[in-house]
Amino acid sequence: MQTSGSTRKTVVLCISGGIAAYKAVEVARRLFDLGYHVVPVMTEDAKRFVGETTFSALSSEPVRSSLWDSKDPVPHTTLSRRADLVLVAPATANIISKFANGASDDLVSAVLIAATSKVLIAPAMHSEMWDNAAVKRNVEFLASTGVVVVEPGVGRLAGGDFGAGRMAEPHEIVARAVGLLEGVSDLDLSGLEVVVSAGGTREAIDPVRFIGNRSSGRQGYAFAEVAQMAGANVTLVSTVENLPVPSGAKMVKVESASDMSSAMKELAKTADIVIMAAAVADFRVEEQRSEKIKKADGPPEIRLVHTEDILAYLGQNRSHRQVVVGFAAETGDPEEYARAKLDRKGADIIVGNDVTAPGAGFGTETNSVLIVERDRDVTFLERVSKKKVAEAVLARALEILRSGLRI
Ligand code: CTP
Repeated sequence: MQTSGSTRKTVVLCISGGIAAYKAVEVARRLFDLGYHVVPVMTEDAKRFVGETTFSALSSEPVRSSLWDSKDPVPHTTLSRRADLVLVAPATANIISKFANGASDDLVSAVLIAATSKVLIAPAMHSEMWDNAAVKRNVEFLASTGVVVVEPGVGRLAGGDFGAGRMAEPHEIVARAVGLLEGVSDLDLSGLEVVVSAGGTREAIDPVRFIGNRSSGRQGYAFAEVAQMAGANVTLVSTVENLPVPSGAKMVKVESASDMSSAMKELAKTADIVIMAAAVADFRVEEQRSEKIKKADGPPEIRLVHTEDILAYLGQNRSHRQVVVGFAAETGDPEEYARAKLDRKGADIIVGNDVTAPGAGFGTETNSVLIVERDRDVTFLERVSKKKVAEAVLARALEILRSGLRI
């Protein structure tokens, strides 16, 4: 257990009475393992589903559940003042109703009413209850006050499908909590599907040799991480093996431009935001040898042919309203090239960078980029982290998606 004097950020984890309380055990454990100070607060009904000891053992402090059982005369305000985040998982229809209506007849509802930090709720209930008009009104009201809701089930917010009311998976709830705690809170991509390509493609010459490039994949992974923390359902289509896949994101491993093209075309069918951050080879070997080329046979002549331009295909063949983002890694005038690519590829946003500039480009931690959009001034970001680039670009993509302004 961490000490209560810890300087780590504090999550007050409220558990209300639903069967999904068992999944909150995993939420507590993951947050604790990530280094957060986790204070569990249970309703009496929650204890019918999971024992107090389980939460006490996996959190930073013992479970609290009463307004009256500690020496502290105001445990609710003490807890809410300590919280960097109040997280309710599961949030039953009952606790949502109390919170939305300002009722406080137990410690969980009192902590919620007194909360001054961000509040994140993970609703869990039967479909009929989730579809109930009063529940909907309560959730919408809370969301309008800034409470962040991790939608239950696998429903897509954009498509209007709210799923069956099953609590979101622990990794999704934790990713969202970390997003709020670590400051990507303004970006809300709840329920949106984001597909990101990352890394450099490899075009085989023979079974052991390939033509590759110097892309590390870091910018694509930063997109996946930020989008995941902002509540999106994220799929990474990646050639990279040595970077950790952000918690909760799905990963499709590819190698060549052709593999990447098939994966991206399939995933783009349902995606809301598509990001081509990969360095896709422009050329591939026309005839890939099935056997290793022997040195004794002398230097081979290798004929190259164009690969398919995946971004151009995605930009020009959209089946529904979605935002398409591409990159332009340049060594000349990045703005001019980026503007040209915006039109040529039918993208909504092109993120341009001069890969020869200091602190930018392949393998670096930072990036200096310009975000180019149609009918809008360029946004320059100088020597910022790749996560900041991702945040800024995703914020623009969300605005375009919301406004319906796309080609
Ligand atoms: N891209 C792609 N498919 C390719 C080549 C590139 O989808 N076969 C995507 C990249 O992922 C990136 C964008 O297109 O988002 C820009 O790629 P870039 O190589 O800079 O542009 P090109 O069109 O190849 O133009 P040029 O090489 O002349 O700059």
